Amino acid sequence: MEILIRKNYDEMSKTAANLIVDQIKRNPKSVLGLATGSTPIGTYEELIRLHKSGNLDFSQIKSFNLDEYLGISIDLDKPYNEDQSYARFMWEELFKHINIKEKNYHVPNGLTDNPHQFCRNYEKQIKDAGGIDLQVLGIGGDGHVAFNEPGTSFSSRTHITALTQQTLDDNYELFYKKSGIPRDEMPHFAITMGIGTILDSRHTLLLASGERKAEVIAKAIEGPLTAQITSSSLQLHPKVTVVLDEEAASSLKRADHYKHVEIMKKKFSL
Ligand code: GLP
Repeated sequence: MEILIRKNYDEMSKTAANLIVDQIKRNPKSVLGLATGSTPIGTYEELIRLHKSGNLDFSQIKSFNLDEYLGISIDLDKPYNEDQSYARFMWEELFKHINIKEKNYHVPNGLTDNPHQFCRNYEKQIKDAGGIDLQVLGIGGDGHVAFNEPGTSFSSRTHITALTQQTLDDNYELFYKKSGIPRDEMPHFAITMGIGTILDSRHTLLLASGERKAEVIAKAIEGPLTAQITSSSLQLHPKVTVVLDEEAASSLKRADHYKHVEIMKKKFSL
């Protein structure tokens, strides 16, 4: 694992955006895996800024989002606060600002009639696109990546999941509360890429910011492999970059070592 520690959220976002830009410049037809949540918003803002300044072209990029609540989907006629779908989030925070083609971005359909068939088909679509080159990830308070809740198999593929109480509480506070939707009307199920799907990506980029993520980040990176912290599965991935701010890195035992490794890599162009 490559672990990059930055002084604050803005620096974390810039580093993450630069890694995505490098991927796009290396291969303008890259397939990106995208994440929702508050963490990647600054990264997306930086990508939008670069696109608007004429330096970043998404016209041949394909993308697949990690997850979506079951029972809701995008409704562009509704104001943002009334529509808490991840499809809506992606449209507002990224897609509407860049030149990615509509046929090329994919967010799981939360209103599908046949969720299990949908999941199988999502896997096929990713495979047919050539697999994911760079997968962006955030981390949930219970250690999940995407919506792979504690207990999810490391070999799972795209599937339907029941959200834990902690995830419901976290996401209600962060997103639903301001919309005025009562707590018990929030969706309790979601479609999510599996851990196996994520581990198949060629490069994964895990982002975390703030003190509230410090303990779970330490478990994911330095703790034992366990399906109880599904992000620990990333230790099995051959190419992971973790970008943290100082607060999110504050419970890591080997933070000084990771900083040293980054300096040495730069010094010897490794
Ligand atoms: C949700 C998403 C995850 C995301 C997590 C963290 O549960 N399904 O993909 O990583 O939220 O969100 P935040 O970045 O707001 O802390």
